[in-house]
Amino acid sequence: MKCVNDFRLHLAGHELVPLIVGGMGVDISAARLALEAARLGGIGHISDAMVPTVSDRRFKTKYVAEKLRKYKHNVLNNDKAEVQFDLARLAEATALHVGRTMEAKKGPGLIFINCMEKLTMNAPRETLRVRLMAALDAGIDGITLGAGLHLGSLALIEDHPRFRDAQLGIIVSSLRALLLFLRKNARLGRLPDYIVVEGPLAGGHLGFGMDWAQYDLKTIVAEILQYLAQQGLDIPVIPAGGIFTGSDATEFLESGASAVQVATRFTVTNECGLPEKIKQEYLHAREDDIEVNLVSPTGYPMRMLKSSPGIGAAIRPNCEAYGYLLDSSGHCAYIDAYEREREARGIDTVFSVKDKTCLCTHMRNFAIWTCGHYTYRLKDTTHLLADGSYALLSAEHVFHDYQYSKEHEIRLPESSSPLEVGPVRRMR
Ligand SMILES: Cc1cc2nc3c(=O)[nH]c(=O)nc-3n(C[C@H](O)[C@H](O)[C@H](O)COP(=O)(O)O)c2cc1C
Repeated sequence: MKCVNDFRLHLAGHELVPLIVGGMGVDISAARLALEAARLGGIGHISDAMVPTVSDRRFKTKYVAEKLRKYKHNVLNNDKAEVQFDLARLAEATALHVGRTMEAKKGPGLIFINCMEKLTMNAPRETLRVRLMAALDAGIDGITLGAGLHLGSLALIEDHPRFRDAQLGIIVSSLRALLLFLRKNARLGRLPDYIVVEGPLAGGHLGFGMDWAQYDLKTIVAEILQYLAQQGLDIPVIPAGGIFTGSDATEFLESGASAVQVATRFTVTNECGLPEKIKQEYLHAREDDIEVNLVSPTGYPMRMLKSSPGIGAAIRPNCEAYGYLLDSSGHCAYIDAYEREREARGIDTVFSVKDKTCLCTHMRNFAIWTCGHYTYRLKDTTHLLADGSYALLSAEHVFHDYQYSKEHEIRLPESSSPLEVGPVRRMR
C-alpha cells in the first residue's frame, strides 16, 4: 500500500513532496505556515488578499491609516469612485510581505502567492498588475491565480523578466474554465506550469454556483486529465477540496494527479494566522454548523461557519480604509445592501444587513469564519483537553500525517491528556 511519500512533484527542476498548502486569505495561510510547508519539502502559499492591511499587522506600517486620512471626507458618500489605491504604496506593501517571507525561507520546498482577481480594488487591471509584478520582483517562487476566471492576468506580466522562469499556475473548477483560459492565453506562448482543480468542498469562495453539491472533484479531475492526455499536454494537475487524509491524497496521486492542495487541516495548526479562539470554533464545529451562502459581495458562493459574527452585521462600509472589493467604478454589492436597509429602517434604528457582508472589514477582523466542508472532522485529528478545548497541532505534524499515513489513518499528536483516545484514528 502506497502513501503520499511514495510520489514526487517535479516542478521547475525541483523534486517536491506532492503536498501544497493552499492560499487562505486574509493572512490565514500566514507566512509562518507557508514557510513550514516549504521547509518540509512541499509548497506553501501566502495570500495577496488585502496586503497593505496585512503589512500593517506584520510590519507595523501605516498604509490603511494613510489611505483613510486621504479619503476621510468621502466616508459618508455612497459613491466610492475617487477612493483609489496608491499603486506605489501597493507595490511597497507587496514587496515587504513577499520579500520578508522569501528571506526567511529554509529547506527544499517552494513558496507561492495566491492571487485573487476578485480583489478588484477600484482599478482591477492596474492593481492586479502591480501586485503580480511586485511579487515577482520580490522573488516569489510562483503565483497561483485564484479561482474565478483569470483570463487576462498572465498578459499583464508578460513583459516581466521572470515571466518565463517563475512558476505560474491557475485554479479552475471545470474543464470549461480551463479551455477558456487556454484559448484566451494561446498567443502568449506560455502554458500554465500547473493546474489546481478545486472541487466543491473547498474553503473560501467556490468556483461553482449554489448547485455546488451536484459536482464532484474526482469527476472533474478525470475530465481534465483526459483532455490534457488527448492534447499531449504535460501539465501537472493538482486536485483540491475535501482531501482530508493521506490516503485521500494517495488515491488522487495513483490516478494521475501530480500533487494535492489542502488547507482545512492546517487551519488548526499553531502556524495558521487565525486567532486561537477561532481555531477552537473550527474544532468544535458540527456538520450542520457549516453553510455555503451568498453573503460575499463578490457574487461567488462562499463556505463558512453559520455563527460567523460578520453575517448580518450592519457596519458602515469601510472602503476609505480598505475598499479591496470596489469594482472599476467604485461599487460594492455591500454598499447597496447597506444603503437599502438604512433607508428602509431609518438612521436611528439598529438594523441588520442579511444578504451581503462587508467582507473587507470582517475578513480583516476574522469575523467571517470561512472554512472547508470537512471542518467538522477536525475534532477527530486531535485531543479533547480537560478544559473542553482541543489541542492545536503543529504544521509539521499535519504535513507528516498527510505524507506518511496509510489506510485513512490520522495520527494524533503526542499528549498526556487523560481524555486521549489512542495514537491513531481510522477515518473510513
Ligand atoms: C479558511 C480558508 C480560506 C481560504 N481562502 C482562500 C483564498 O483566499 N483563495 C483561494 O484561492 N482559496 C482559498 N481557500 C481554498 C484553499 O486554498 C484550498 O484550495 C482548499 O480549501 C482545499 O480544500 P480543503 O480545505 O478541503 O483541504 C481557502 C480555504 C480555507 C479553508
